[in-house]
Amino acid sequence: MSVVTLPTVEDTHAFGRRLAGALRAGDLLLLTGPLGAGKTALTQGIGAGLGVRGDITSPTFVIARVHRPDPARGGAVALVHADAYRLGDAADPRAEIDDLDLDASVDDSVTVVEWGEGLVEQLVDAHLRVRIDRRDDDTRVVELEPVGGDWPTRLATLP
Ligand SMILES: Nc1ncnc2c1ncn2[C@@H]1O[C@H](COP(=O)(O)OP(=O)(O)OP(=O)(O)O)[C@@H](O)[C@H]1O
Ligand SMILES: [Mg+2]
Repeated sequence: MSVVTLPTVEDTHAFGRRLAGALRAGDLLLLTGPLGAGKTALTQGIGAGLGVRGDITSPTFVIARVHRPDPARGGAVALVHADAYRLGDAADPRAEIDDLDLDASVDDSVTVVEWGEGLVEQLVDAHLRVRIDRRDDDTRVVELEPVGGDWPTRLATLP
């Protein structure tokens, strides 16, 4: 599975929840796509699937936000949600996020970075690139592009 069509925002949330089932501590997801594509909506679904606390909103006015796992909702791993616009041009966003002293290490968290267009050329270690595009009929098309790691195996088992 590498291309998914998501007609409504509820479908995008549901896809995020399914994707969360394949995620583990140390993972980095880079979300790309134009303004309003649904990057934050997808992150909300991922957060729900991970069982983390707090409303997931656009991190535009902060660099990154940590959402702690809620054991009552089956949560075990934190979600770090970052906005690449605010991350500068370091080659590795993870190092940059760790430098923020968020009281959460990316090794122990799932990190989701919303990237602005044109910033995706930067290379990092193993990560999952998630591109969201909006079609004229308002449906979203999500393309998953694994870079390194064992992503292909893990994605193959997505429900
Ligand atoms: N199929 C869909 N998937 C996701 N969002 C959808 C869909 N259909 C409509 N929407 C709407 O599109 C908007 C997506 O906004 P969202 O904040 O998630 O985008 P974004 O990519 O994070 O934007 P930004 O670049 O500003 O951070 C929401 O208002 C959502 O309700
Ligand atoms: Mg957003």
